[in-house]
Amino acid sequence: MSQKLKEALREDLTPAELQYLVQSYDVVGDIAIIIIPQELVKKEHLIASAILNLHRNIKVVAKRAGIYGGEFRTLPLQIIGGEERKETLHTEDGVRFLVNPETVYFSVRSSNERKRIASLVHAGEEILVLFSGIGPYPLIIGRANPSCRLLGIEINPEAHRYALKNLVYNKKITNVRFLEGDAGSVLPALKRKFDRIVMPLPKSAEAFLFVALAALRQEGWLHFYDLQQENRFSDSVDKVDTACQRAARQLLSSAVTVCGHCAPRTYRICVDARIGKLLGPPHLKERQEYFKDNEKDDIPFNPQ
Ligand SMILES: C[S@@+](CC[C@H](N)C(=O)[O-])C[C@H]1O[C@@H](n2cnc3c(N)ncnc32)[C@H](O)[C@@H]1O
Repeated sequence: MSQKLKEALREDLTPAELQYLVQSYDVVGDIAIIIIPQELVKKEHLIASAILNLHRNIKVVAKRAGIYGGEFRTLPLQIIGGEERKETLHTEDGVRFLVNPETVYFSVRSSNERKRIASLVHAGEEILVLFSGIGPYPLIIGRANPSCRLLGIEINPEAHRYALKNLVYNKKITNVRFLEGDAGSVLPALKRKFDRIVMPLPKSAEAFLFVALAALRQEGWLHFYDLQQENRFSDSVDKVDTACQRAARQLLSSAVTVCGHCAPRTYRICVDARIGKLLGPPHLKERQEYFKDNEKDDIPFNPQ
């Protein structure tokens, strides 16, 4: 992609400027999202025109105007070419997503990871996706595993609105529901148990491990995402282990998958953890009562 772009810009950029051109850019639906280094700002409209000419399917070129941030993990964007809009329809693995990549978090770079999790799921599982955004994990997993039931919880009202729209865009996927709110309070109030819980909030998922473990069936799977430095992946496993001990659960096994590269020597990783039954130290009697109560599975699935 970048080689073709470099070729197309050979006349407009000096050799020194060409060195600054980024290796690649993301494409969300018909929007190309590119990083423009300071040295190329004056040429950004030329770069955008070259992208539009090279790829007829791209209608908008936007540059990153900041970094992912805030509670909703959103990314400021500035249009530098093409149509003046930021909403688009993106397709991933046969699932359609309406999305505004500025007002909600959505990363095309996680598509392989979503596919990987979908491939681990067993028939009939009840699966919870905390921090579900516009719904990519639940919808991709749900489409690949029609016998499973999935629930997503998301705090950004705009992302939740898109998730509901994406249910409409994918009418054949009937096993997914979404709830809006803070996972920390919505989940305990649900009083439901799940076979598998996915936690794609790499910077802060640790704070939700306790509520997640309380909602995991006596034997279940947890997919805990974390940002971790090279050679320190075991620290992320330790976070899960420590939370298990606090919750009187047992970490039976774990494996780490590297899902992305986010800074020099820092990776986005997923700890796939098999969590076992309650341990029963006497001082945790209260917590055991809580688990016992929540083990009743008489709450209807459709909580929307
Ligand atoms: C890294 S994004 C992942 C979104 C989505 N799962 C995806 O892969 O595209 C994390 C999401 O968690 C949401 N979030 C942050 N804190 C939350 C909370 N306390 N409860 C529910 N969702 C939360 C953010 O709004 C954001 O959409």
